[in-house]
Amino acid sequence: MHEEFALQDREFHKLSKLVMDTAGIVLSERKRAFIHGRLGRRLRALGMNSFSQYCKLLETDAGDDELHNFINAVTTNHTSFFRESHHFEYLARTILPAIVAGHRRRLRIWSAGCSTGEEPHSIAMTLLSCEQLLSGWDVKILATDLDTNVLAHASQGVYDFERAEGIPETFRKRFVTLRGNQAVMKDEVRELISFGHLNLLGPWPMSGPFDVIFCRNVVIYFDQDTQRRLFDRYAEMLKPDGWLIIGHSENLLNISDRFDLIGRTIYRRIK
Ligand SMILES: C[S@@+](CC[C@H](N)C(=O)[O-])C[C@H]1O[C@@H](n2cnc3c(N)ncnc32)[C@H](O)[C@@H]1O
Repeated sequence: MHEEFALQDREFHKLSKLVMDTAGIVLSERKRAFIHGRLGRRLRALGMNSFSQYCKLLETDAGDDELHNFINAVTTNHTSFFRESHHFEYLARTILPAIVAGHRRRLRIWSAGCSTGEEPHSIAMTLLSCEQLLSGWDVKILATDLDTNVLAHASQGVYDFERAEGIPETFRKRFVTLRGNQAVMKDEVRELISFGHLNLLGPWPMSGPFDVIFCRNVVIYFDQDTQRRLFDRYAEMLKPDGWLIIGHSENLLNISDRFDLIGRTIYRRIK
């Protein structure tokens, strides 16, 4: 914690409201130390000595640029390759064969809240490992996030070697090149993914429809009304029988009746 700047109630509430209005993220009292630490760094970078000065900057037109830094500083970006690996097994073993059986040769997947890109890269490797299903297909993965820092990292497809250890060995051998202490995703993986900056609360420029939406460990930070609106929009963005995959501590109970729970945190659109 950065004790040189005190974060008073007034400023904490102002900053919490701004995060809620901009990104839908709820900053509870428990997050105060986290915000204090993260924003302390921004204050020092800007040569400021109080949170009230920082709040004033964010309220002015000149603060528009800082708003990005502010949002980047308060997002939680924890992720890993093949996190919740049963989702990728389900994609390979159930979703892809169902799509093949439907004689579709077009596949669209959205990784919403993709953070530093481990999730969409894991999806891409999973799809490529089922290449007998995919030769000649039109396949695209859209990967979006609100945080411009994590997106810049994601689109490079370069990770510390230790992070890449989470990739199953057969996939790592086939899809990753080592460069010094870094793991570089091969072009055939990267080519499947388009990265884009997108606030889930704002307008969505893409037309869809998607076969599968991954939105994992993102809505956990949103309040219930924001979640209700978001899942309704996901239903609209999915094909009528499309799949929605959420994080291990999330569920749609009292949030949406447009999906059926068909597996562990795996849903299918029903209306
Ligand atoms: C904890 S990470 C989850 C990453 C990945 N989906 C996973 O499960 O490993 C949550 C991501 O959601 C993003 N996020 C939070 N609020 C968002 C919003 N309003 N619009 C888009 N992305 C948002 C954050 O920037 C962060 O990168």
